[in-house]
Amino acid sequence: MNKPIYLDYNATTPHAPEVIEAMRPFLEEHFGNPSSSHWYGIEPRRAVEKARAQVAGLLQCSPEEIIFTSGGTESNNHAIKGMAWAMRDRGRHIITSAVEHPAVLEVCRSLEEHGFETTVLPVDSRGMVAPVDVEKAVRPSTILITIMHANNEVGTIQPIAEISEIAGKHAIAMHTDAAQSVGKIPAVVADLGVDLLSIAGHKLYGPKGIGALYVRHPAAPAKFCHGAGQERGWRAGTENVMHIAGLGKACESAAVNLRQHMGKMQAMRDRLFDEFAGSVADVQRNGNPEQTLPNTLSVSFKGIEADKILEKIADTVAASGGAACHSGTVHISHVLKAMGVHEEWAKGTLRFSVGRMTTMEQVDRAAEAVIAAVREMTR
Ligand SMILES: Cc1ncc(COP(=O)(O)O)c(C=O)c1O
Repeated sequence: MNKPIYLDYNATTPHAPEVIEAMRPFLEEHFGNPSSSHWYGIEPRRAVEKARAQVAGLLQCSPEEIIFTSGGTESNNHAIKGMAWAMRDRGRHIITSAVEHPAVLEVCRSLEEHGFETTVLPVDSRGMVAPVDVEKAVRPSTILITIMHANNEVGTIQPIAEISEIAGKHAIAMHTDAAQSVGKIPAVVADLGVDLLSIAGHKLYGPKGIGALYVRHPAAPAKFCHGAGQERGWRAGTENVMHIAGLGKACESAAVNLRQHMGKMQAMRDRLFDEFAGSVADVQRNGNPEQTLPNTLSVSFKGIEADKILEKIADTVAASGGAACHSGTVHISHVLKAMGVHEEWAKGTLRFSVGRMTTMEQVDRAAEAVIAAVREMTR
């Protein structure tokens, strides 16, 4: 059977061949514990530190500012809970946005059970947070602002540098969930002005279950995992050497020809939308066409259910829905709701995300399959 065309790179990416090669020695040969002082610890320890430098190279920070984690979710948990616990004597108010991933929103919600308060900022119809709203939400008790760099569903890129400036002015720590942006667009921590930034390995051709958290001195989140003191005591537990090596390689690769890759992604993404727009009457694009991830296309087909389109195209195309139907009720994603996308459109929303392995020929075949399905369903 021919596999469906994979257009779901925002969900996860395949491993890059060079990532597999970078991990192989730690699967086959170098099994040692990086904390061991004998010979077997040397290569694993060297690999962990090499990877730390590779991650730091992509973010253009110092290797000492990188903590390895189990992925984007843990990085966000560490950043948000860690800052909340560390700063709780100064204040208990956190600012976030309505379009964050659950790995931020649920963390904030969990802190509310411990006496913290969260302001969830609205977004405009393109999914953008307004810096002026951030400024207005600041209180004397605000200790953290956490706003994502780029949205996983619609691709909108937030004005992080501007928001960081506001945070800095009020001496508030600034965190960004960059799980979707790192590797797709430049994410230089100094340009973004953030104190903390989350990365997820499997979104940039690295393995799943590995990530990193950038922490700029003097921000000091509370320790996340207590134990034997690995990761300078912040995150105890024997390091996942193989995946750390893979993440390092993935970050090194991402920096190579980033602009060229961005151009290629954008051309494929735009072609996909142009084909839809040229063939289907009731189609709209969601997000901010100017400030968006180059690989992400969120489209709504009016009056159709996303699940049904996905079902129809399942043999040809693998993509994601922005709404799901359960027992006759349509559940629209919190992101589309926050953007005010009308239900008639929102329920027929699909997310296509292209990647390094996608070809123009695949894009054309995928477009053909989607258009045929939509036409059949609107006949
Ligand atoms: C914006 C964003 N943040 C966080 C995560 C969670 O990352 P992980 O799957 O590595 O825990 C994801 C994954 O979908 C994401 O898109």
